[in-house]
Amino acid sequence: MEDLFTKARAEIAAKYPLIANGLVDHNNAAPEVITQSKKIIADFITHKGNDALSGGLDAFSKISLDFIRLQSRFIRSGKYRAQDAEEMIRDLYQNSEKMEGYYLDGLFLSYAFWPNHAQMLQFYKNRFLANQQEKKSCLEIGVGHGLMALSMLRNLTDVAYTGVDVSPAALKYVQRLMERQKIDSNRFALHEVNVMSARKMANISKPDGGFSYAVCCEVLEHVMQPETLLNRIHDQIQPEAELFLTTVVNIEAEDHVYLFKNTEQIRELTDMCRFQIKEELVLPLPGFPEGPSQPFNYAAVLTKSI
Ligand SMILES: C[S@@+](CC[C@H](N)C(=O)[O-])C[C@H]1O[C@@H](n2cnc3c(N)ncnc32)[C@H](O)[C@@H]1O
Repeated sequence: MEDLFTKARAEIAAKYPLIANGLVDHNNAAPEVITQSKKIIADFITHKGNDALSGGLDAFSKISLDFIRLQSRFIRSGKYRAQDAEEMIRDLYQNSEKMEGYYLDGLFLSYAFWPNHAQMLQFYKNRFLANQQEKKSCLEIGVGHGLMALSMLRNLTDVAYTGVDVSPAALKYVQRLMERQKIDSNRFALHEVNVMSARKMANISKPDGGFSYAVCCEVLEHVMQPETLLNRIHDQIQPEAELFLTTVVNIEAEDHVYLFKNTEQIRELTDMCRFQIKEELVLPLPGFPEGPSQPFNYAAVLTKSI
C-alpha cells in the first residue's frame, strides 16, 4: 500500500519548506511513532475522504505557521496575546467556519506530524490507557478532534465514554469521526458544556461514585482559572481514579490564555487541586534554546487523592 504519511510529508515539504525541516522532523522518531502517524493519516482519510488530505495538510500548515509567528512574538513579550477565554469561546470554538475550516483538521494532523504531539499520544496509549483495562467509564474534557476518544474506544471495548466540549463544531466532528469508524453510538455520549460552569458540569449524568478515569488534553492553558478546571474533574471522578493531563509551558497559540512559565508551576497546581503525579513526560520543544522561557510540552498521569 502507498505510504501516505511519507507522501503527506513530501507535500508539506514542497508547499511549506519552512515547517518541513523543523516542526515536522521525524528523523529521530521511534518505529512505533511512525506506525502511529501512518494510522492517523489513514484515520483522517476514513473520516474526511481521500480528496480531503491536501486540505488537511494546508490546515496543519496554517496552525504550524501561525505558531511560528506567535511564538516569536511571545519570545519578545513574555506574554500570550489572547487574554480572554470567553472571547475565545465566542470567536473561535463557537465559530464553525474556523473550527471546521482549519482548527480541528490541523490539530488532528498535528498528532501525526509534530514529534512532541506524536510522543504524547504514544505515552497516553502505553502509560495511561493500558492501565484502564478494567475500568468502565471515562470523562474527557475538551474532546476537540476526538483522537484521544477514538484511541480509547478502539482499545478499551468495555468503556462508556462521556466527552465534553464547549464547541458545537468539535462535537459534530467527533460524532462523524465515530460514525465513520463504526464505533457503536451507545458507547459514547457527547455534551456541549463549558467545563467552567459548575452547574452544567453537575448536570452531566455520571455513574454512581463518579467516572473511573478522566482525560484532559491541551485544555488547561485555554482557561483563565486552571484550578477550577482541575477541581471540576476532581468532583466528577472516583477516589484514586487516574487523570491523563497534557498542557504547555511557554508555547503560544491563538487560543492560549493561561501561561505556565515552567513545569514546576503545573506540579504546584495539580498538587493544590489534590492530584498526585504518577508519571510525567516533559518534552522540550525542538529547536528552542535552554533558558528561563524555554518551551515544553507536558503530559502526566495523575491519581486523585482525597
Ligand atoms: C487545543 S484543543 C484540544 C483538543 C484535544 N483534546 C487535543 O489534545 O488536541 C482545546 C479544546 O478544548 C475546548 N475547550 C476550550 N475551553 C473549554 C471550556 N471552557 N469548556 C469545554 N471545552 C473547552 C475547545 O473547544 C477545544 O476543542
